[in-house]
Amino acid sequence: MSRARVPNVLQTTEGPVTAERYRLLVESVTDYAIYMLDPQGTVISWNPGARRFKGYEDHEIIGQSFSRFYTEEDRAAGLPERALRMAAEEGRFEKEGWRVRKDGTRFWAHVVIDPILNPATGRVLGYAKVTRDLTERRQADEALRRSEEKFRVLVQGVTDYAIYMLDADGIVTNWNLGAERIKGYAPDEIIGQHFSLFYTPEDRERGEPQKALQAAIDNGSLEKEGWRVRKNGEIFWASVVIDPIHDDAGEVIGFAKVTRDLTERRKVQAELDAAREALFQSQKIEALGQLTGGVAHDFNNLLTAVMGSLELVRRQISDDRQLGLIDNAIKGASRGISLTQRMLSFARKQELELQPVAVDVLVAEMGDLLQRSLGPLIRIETDFPADLAMAAADPNQLETAVLNLAVNARDAMPEGGVLRVGARNESIAPGHRSGLLDGDYIRLSVADTGSGMDAKTLAQATEPFFTTKGVGKGTGLGLSMVHGMAEQLGGRLALDSRLGKGTTVEIWLPAAGSAAAAEPVQLPVEPKAEVELTARPLTVLAVDDDALVLMNTTALLEDLGHRVIEASSAREALALLEGDDAVDLLITDHAMPQMTGAQLIAEVGQRWPKLPVILATGYADLPAGAGVGVLRLNKPFWQADLEKAVAAAMVRRATAAAA
Ligand SMILES: Nc1ncnc2c1ncn2[C@@H]1O[C@H](COP(=O)(O)OP(=O)(O)OP(=O)(O)O)[C@@H](O)[C@H]1O
Ligand SMILES: [Mg+2]
Repeated sequence: MSRARVPNVLQTTEGPVTAERYRLLVESVTDYAIYMLDPQGTVISWNPGARRFKGYEDHEIIGQSFSRFYTEEDRAAGLPERALRMAAEEGRFEKEGWRVRKDGTRFWAHVVIDPILNPATGRVLGYAKVTRDLTERRQADEALRRSEEKFRVLVQGVTDYAIYMLDADGIVTNWNLGAERIKGYAPDEIIGQHFSLFYTPEDRERGEPQKALQAAIDNGSLEKEGWRVRKNGEIFWASVVIDPIHDDAGEVIGFAKVTRDLTERRKVQAELDAAREALFQSQKIEALGQLTGGVAHDFNNLLTAVMGSLELVRRQISDDRQLGLIDNAIKGASRGISLTQRMLSFARKQELELQPVAVDVLVAEMGDLLQRSLGPLIRIETDFPADLAMAAADPNQLETAVLNLAVNARDAMPEGGVLRVGARNESIAPGHRSGLLDGDYIRLSVADTGSGMDAKTLAQATEPFFTTKGVGKGTGLGLSMVHGMAEQLGGRLALDSRLGKGTTVEIWLPAAGSAAAAEPVQLPVEPKAEVELTARPLTVLAVDDDALVLMNTTALLEDLGHRVIEASSAREALALLEGDDAVDLLITDHAMPQMTGAQLIAEVGQRWPKLPVILATGYADLPAGAGVGVLRLNKPFWQADLEKAVAAAMVRRATAAAA
């Protein structure tokens, strides 16, 4: 009887014949094998479900023992008989197990055997058997189990994330490798503990752990970043996700927690921000440097004129009161000059006289000066290794720098304290974060135990004119000068300070002979025997585009007894030289429009190789190689400086002529 015909039978059959109805019902069931056995276990009926999954047609199985559905092992073990006995004795037999199809394949079956009893005698008339093929369900169960196992292995194996579960009260119920790695607890140390252990004491006090669970429940999930604590007490920056877990009834039965350690990422981000800030700072300092350098350069010229004139006037005055006034003016001009020098060194436009410098010796020689500047309340300690390398630096500039730092330290320690000056040999590998060229350095440090600086002051300290000292007390150029000098030397200035904790200033200086050292300026050897050679009045061609400076140079030279021809540009000077062969000496400014002093000197060297020349400049940024070997006169200069330079030039010519 096929399944398709069943509905027709049902429709056409009239009358409440109960047994018949049952038969029809059973006949229509295809998902269950429903059949009957006689008391000995012989099959006496067979339905479509039985046909479908056991594979026997009615005539093939009716009259056979049901034991053939069992596996050979089970049959040998007497399982079929035992099943019937149990059904008869206990009123029911129910079990899952392997059964065999007609084609010999096995399937996982759920079997129920009910005894059919004679209601009058209670004797067993036979058995009703209902079998269900659970192979698919078993496969699905197996697949689920395997996938859960895989998932468990996966979660267990994840080391970048802490993945673990909490029960509804926040007690840790499981723990993966990542959790162990990030938080530091082994599973047996933490399972059973409350998860608030991972919070900082302050967060715990504020009830953050409970709030987090409640927020996860209220919003369906919680994502947050915050500080968490490892087993060893270390705190780390964590990204946390909490998901509540519900049972079928919607009750919260626990939480799934995923935590990531973002400390590294946060650190990298902070470094990136710091680098960006440093770049911004250095660009700002660069711009300020250009501005300051320009201003200082102009002031230098003006002060040259002021000084020269004052000097000349002073000689003609005998009245004491007037002399006092002039001296006052000269003092003022001198202060102005030292100010412009500091501005120029910040702008890295200072003339540097590079040479190997023993920093420890330099500091030792400054001992008295330092102690006098610092006063009796401050103790100086020095710390230099015996094998300290020589630095490539300008000793005078370096001295000024150390003095500037010492004065700053004194100002930060009005109640007294300790000033520690020391140095270390350092070497920088290629690609170092500092951006310094690779090579050997001397790290000179000056540390005080003073007031220190807050972050804002520290960030601005090296800016020119930044000062926290009262009006007239500080110019705000001390650190700027040190910064400019260090940069110009190819080194670096580094500040470390915390409010109330003192300040450490480091000057990184390239070691002498290191590739990082700045190009040394070639200095002419100072001539001796100058006096008699300059006794003769000379004809000097003076060149400067600044009329004030030119007038000053002329006045000073004339006062020395020389004759001066003035030119306000290099072109004009060349034209004058062409028409006059009586010129003994050329003295020229460098920074001039159209043709610079260095260019003029180069041309003069070609055409009048015997003419001595002096380059008067306060500007260090001559193009590389320009002015090398040329006699230099630093602006601003006193008359004595000028006299010396003239003498030196004449000695050079005499030496050259003799050779
Ligand atoms: N050792 C230090 N301890 C605390 N603060 C300091 C220290 N050195 C510098 N500073 C801070 O940095 C600022 C700038 O210092 P800088 O030496 O450039 O200028 P200044 O000392 O104010 O003036 P001056 O031009 O006379 O040196 C100071 O005003 C001070 O606020
Ligand atoms: Mg200072």
